[in-house]
Amino acid sequence: MDKLIIRGGRRLKGDVEISGAKNAALPIILASLLSSGFGTVSRVPDLRDILTIGQLLEYLGAEFHYEDKKAVINTERIGIFEAPYELVRTMRASVLVIGPLLARFGKAKVSLPGGCAIGARPINLHLMGLEKMGAKIELESGYVIAKAKRLKGALIYLDIPTVTGTENLMMAASLAKGRTLLENAAKEPEVVDLANALISMGAKIKGAGESVIEIEGVDELRPLNYSIIPDRIEAGTFMTIAGITAGDIIIKGCRLEHLDAPIIKLIEAGLVFENVSEGMRVIGPPRPKAADVKTMPYPGFPTDMQAQFMALMSIAEGTSIIKETIFENRFMHVAELRRMGADITVEGCTATVKGIRRLRCAPLMATDLRASASLIVAALAAEGETTIHRIYHLERGYEKMEEKLPGLGADVRRVRE
Ligand code: EPZ
Repeated sequence: MDKLIIRGGRRLKGDVEISGAKNAALPIILASLLSSGFGTVSRVPDLRDILTIGQLLEYLGAEFHYEDKKAVINTERIGIFEAPYELVRTMRASVLVIGPLLARFGKAKVSLPGGCAIGARPINLHLMGLEKMGAKIELESGYVIAKAKRLKGALIYLDIPTVTGTENLMMAASLAKGRTLLENAAKEPEVVDLANALISMGAKIKGAGESVIEIEGVDELRPLNYSIIPDRIEAGTFMTIAGITAGDIIIKGCRLEHLDAPIIKLIEAGLVFENVSEGMRVIGPPRPKAADVKTMPYPGFPTDMQAQFMALMSIAEGTSIIKETIFENRFMHVAELRRMGADITVEGCTATVKGIRRLRCAPLMATDLRASASLIVAALAAEGETTIHRIYHLERGYEKMEEKLPGLGADVRRVRE
């Protein structure tokens, strides 16, 4: 396992190119299962999760090749319809095979994902929707076994606007017989990107990005050939990095309209945003000001930005109240930030962050993807040398941080444990 050693206190300057969105790449690569032939997905980030999804596709019988940000998938010979525990355990997004396998082959056996660091994360709404579309769902020794001669369109109301639930059901409905309405659907840009990818394959989808998505099933879909959106969470993470280091960073290649809520909150915290020809210039204040945040489904403040924003608030002037409403255990970064001297108290799903002048370096442990990002944000502003262990968590969602950060003048070294 590797660790990152970061010497903080530098004002980061320069420009950084945003990679493709992890949470768009994962469902869109699996959408290739809905058709037979060679699918191509471009602007795919070089992440651990992409390798995992390639292993999963190869396990099912597909051919998977990833090079130069491009994934090529041949789905002509799918012979296995099961996602095993070992793969699902390492990457929850594997549950997104249920919809495509059921829709194209009428069967799917997928390990229940089990909990993860940030919460129980059940998939009951995914399964409820598939049952409404006529699937027979059984649970057997930790596996979901789903069967359906041919899925049929249905009216599905999602109690929670689940992102991967919306994605699984949208993929399933694309090949179902008849019309499906997904009510209270997730509106995240990654859901819209998947819908656009499916439409490019011949799917009939209207309303993606709204609360109600309408899908008219078709008999067959063309192979995929699609380029994904940039990663809004990576872009938002670099914005908080500019904010915490009093930096001056030009963020290139991100879609700003996907970041309204975080940008508004970062402006409240004193950051200055300037549209320049190469991208968005973000200038951090000498010291950020406290701002309150409550995570909400899109277009609200994204839960995937909560940990990074908390790191920024830990040195802000004043006290900020941060409410996490999406996951029940997404404050794993608090204990680590406290070890750097942060003054944070947690009551249920609310964290009270009293800003201090300066964080101190400390040996830290990454626990999950966004918590590891928040430790990096904090370490870049802390005095002295911070070591972050278990950075494999980070590599799941951030492409080459140990190159992008030094490109902005950060003193960051990756060392084998
Ligand atoms: C997606 O997870 C993202 N992952 C997460 O990003 C992100 O944090 C999350 O959406 C929220 O935006 C991918 O897209 C691969 P949900 P997902 O289903 O789909 C409950 C990252 O850091 N729920 O929208 O699993 C659930 O427990 C990752 O990149 C049910 O109760 O999230 C949670 O409390 C982390 N039953 C809430 O809904 C269900 O059937 C939202 O979960 C489904 C969800």
